[in-house]
Amino acid sequence: MAVPFVQDWDLVQTLGEGAYGEVRLLVNRKTEEAVAVKVVDTSRAKDCLDNVKKEVCVHKMLSHPNIVRFFGHRSEGPVQYIFLEYCSGGELFDRIEPDVGMPEKEAHRFFQQLIGGVEYLHGIGITHRDIKPENILLDDKDNLKISDFGLATMFRHRGRERLLTRLCGTLPYVAPELMSRPEFHAQPADVWACGIVLTAMLAGELPWDQPSESCQEYFDWLQKKTYLTPWRKIDSVPLGLLMKILLHSPEDRMTIPDIKKHRWFSRSFKSGVKRQNDVHGPLTKMLRSDSEQLQLARTNSDDRVQISSSQPEPQGLWEVREDVVHTEGGQVSFSQPACPDHMLLGSQLLGTPGASQNPWQRLVRRMTRFFTTLNAEKSCAALRDACIAMSYTWKQTCTNQATVSTMDRRNNKLIFKVHFLEMEERILVDFRLSKGDGLEFKRIFLKLKQKLSDIISNQKVPVPFT
Ligand code: ADE
Repeated sequence: MAVPFVQDWDLVQTLGEGAYGEVRLLVNRKTEEAVAVKVVDTSRAKDCLDNVKKEVCVHKMLSHPNIVRFFGHRSEGPVQYIFLEYCSGGELFDRIEPDVGMPEKEAHRFFQQLIGGVEYLHGIGITHRDIKPENILLDDKDNLKISDFGLATMFRHRGRERLLTRLCGTLPYVAPELMSRPEFHAQPADVWACGIVLTAMLAGELPWDQPSESCQEYFDWLQKKTYLTPWRKIDSVPLGLLMKILLHSPEDRMTIPDIKKHRWFSRSFKSGVKRQNDVHGPLTKMLRSDSEQLQLARTNSDDRVQISSSQPEPQGLWEVREDVVHTEGGQVSFSQPACPDHMLLGSQLLGTPGASQNPWQRLVRRMTRFFTTLNAEKSCAALRDACIAMSYTWKQTCTNQATVSTMDRRNNKLIFKVHFLEMEERILVDFRLSKGDGLEFKRIFLKLKQKLSDIISNQKVPVPFT
């Protein structure tokens, strides 16, 4: 049987890196279709191959508008490739402004879609087990897509439910029964994580490090001290919903059918401009106001509390400018494959993505960066001084890179890298979280940005494409 040979897929950018390997963006040179490929080198850890096989086995069963589409997989020696729908809107995490969250209307829409995806998973007997904003992606129309099925498992088969025993997930999102009971039901634990995601969307902070009574914030929640933060930032109606979702006892906790009946969930918000027919078009989207850009600032996952593998570290597509060819009329096309090998998808290819995105829409938004008005050396010195003034530890790792470490407000380690990149005779200062809480990282980025406001160029970051 002839194996289809899918030609002209260019590796455009690494979207993220994690303990498992990396996620790359592939773009078809002819059709401009984009796919994400998760690349896992299974020779690194003993159980890695089994984990990838399980992830593939689970993910290939799934088909829902709020689940990242699985296109196929292939292996080359120890390296496994998983082809996935590319979500150009980035992570849900990027829409959460530290300490603020996002407009209630947006959170409502995302929460409805999240519950839609989780309801589908539970309906076919699958539990995700690591629901958090870093594992929730958005497409070009800001539709929510649940991703990363690396920890997913079957909890119901042929109508028979099995209880789970494995403690996995990410501590601020795990349900209390995981820490206190040898066996627990899968569904209430996913529902709990959805409640934490809703809290993060409405308040811009996570309520606790972990749901144990030794954690003061959780203890206060058990005492119903909703006058404390983050609860006091949340309107009484969604707070009422959260109080029934984040119930300590999984038996008492709201189920998905209960959530769907709740008046906040089922309410309608007056519709504004429809996203599907965005009158401004993708170019305007890229040139949002600074405040909106900050709201979109991306951070990484929290290694400190993460039990699962660490998460990808997306990078802006527009950084790899060698790969981007500017054409007349402001169009951008992709050329010069960094990876000359064509993508042999083989017989496992389940379908190809629609060519609905244009190159602008494919750009990954990540806003923890700015341009300066100084040269690289002076920019670096200015940032170093600002970091030292804030008592952060500064370590220059090479001429255009430094590592900064500090402790965050919860006394957890926070480490991030700063790159100084020369772009069109200007210096781009790019911040990447290496370890720690993503929201804390954003807070620190904003503090540093404010301290350096004198040397920050007013020009918008996506300017290289205009
Ligand atoms: N990062 C990880 N998976 C991704 C995907 N499918 N699309 C965009 N970014 C991603």
